[in-house]
Amino acid sequence: MSGETGIDELWPGRADGLDDDALLGGYEHGVREEWVRVNFVSSIDGAATSAGRSGGLSDGADKRVFALLRRPCDVVLVGAGTVRVEGYGGMRVDAESERWRIEHGFAPQPTLALVSGGLELDPHGDVFAEAPVRPIVLTTAAAPAVRRRALAEVADVVVCGTGSVAPGEALRALARRGLKRVHCEGGPRLFGSFAAERAVDELCLTIGPVIEGGAGGRIVEGVPRLARSMRLARVLRSGDTLLLRYVRG
Ligand SMILES: NC(=O)c1ccc[n+]([C@@H]2O[C@H](COP(=O)([O-])OP(=O)(O)OC[C@H]3O[C@@H](n4cnc5c(N)ncnc54)[C@H](OP(=O)(O)O)[C@@H]3O)[C@@H](O)[C@H]2O)c1
Repeated sequence: MSGETGIDELWPGRADGLDDDALLGGYEHGVREEWVRVNFVSSIDGAATSAGRSGGLSDGADKRVFALLRRPCDVVLVGAGTVRVEGYGGMRVDAESERWRIEHGFAPQPTLALVSGGLELDPHGDVFAEAPVRPIVLTTAAAPAVRRRALAEVADVVVCGTGSVAPGEALRALARRGLKRVHCEGGPRLFGSFAAERAVDELCLTIGPVIEGGAGGRIVEGVPRLARSMRLARVLRSGDTLLLRYVRG
C-alpha cells in the first residue's frame, strides 16, 4: 500500500524562521478582491476558550499571526460577544503595519465592523471612542431604536437583516463602502452564521498544544450540522503550536 491516500509529511520541513513578509505572503495565495478570512485559535481537543477567553490558548506565534493578519484587509469583522468578553478597545495597527498597508494599497488603518442584534454596546466605550476610523455596526431591523440612535452618534449603523444579520447583506453593505477584504476575528456564533451561508473563503486556525477539557465551546456555535469541506492550503509550526490555513473546498 503506497501513495493511495496521499499522506505527506509536512514536518520536519523548512526550519529557518519566516520573516513577516514570507509569513504574510503565504496567506495571500489565491486571495481574490472580495475575500472573507476568519481567524481562530483552539486547543488540541477543540476548545475555543480557556477560562472563558481565547488568550489562554494563544502563544507568541499565534499573537504574531493574529496581528499580521490585520494588515491585508479593509475591515476587521467581529461579533458583539467577542467585543464584550475579550474587551476590544480602539483597534489600531502599529506603525509598521500602517506603513505596510499604505505600500500595499490599503487605507492606513482597517475599519472595525461589529455585528450585533441586541446592540448592548456602550457608545462611550473605547472601542468607539479610541477608534482611528469610524466603526460600523451591522445590525437588524429589530434592534432597539434607542440603542440604534445612541450608537449612530459614534458609528455607522447599518441594518442587514430582520431576525439576524444576514452575512450576504452584511458583505454587500461593506463592499459598497469599498470594504471588500474582510478579516473576521470571531467569535463562534458569528463564524457559525457566516459558515452556514457559505460566506467564508478562508479559515486560519492555530492549534495550541493543550488538552483543555472543561465546557469551552467550539469555534463554530449556534448552527446545525454544516459539513463544509475545506482545502488545506498551508501548515506552519512554531514549537508545539500548529498554524493551519484552510480555504474553501
Ligand atoms: N478561540 C478564538 O479564537 C476566539 C475568537 C473569538 C472569540 N472567542 C471566544 O468566544 C466567546 C464568545 O462567543 P460568541 O459566540 O458569543 O461570540 P460572537 O460570535 O463574537 O458573539 C455573538 C454575538 O454577536 C452577535 N452576532 C453574531 N452573529 C450574529 C448575526 N448573524 N446576527 C446578529 N447578531 C450576531 C450577537 O450579538 P448581540 O448579543 O449583541 O445581539 C451575538 O450574541 C468568548 O468567550 C470569546 O473569548 C474565541
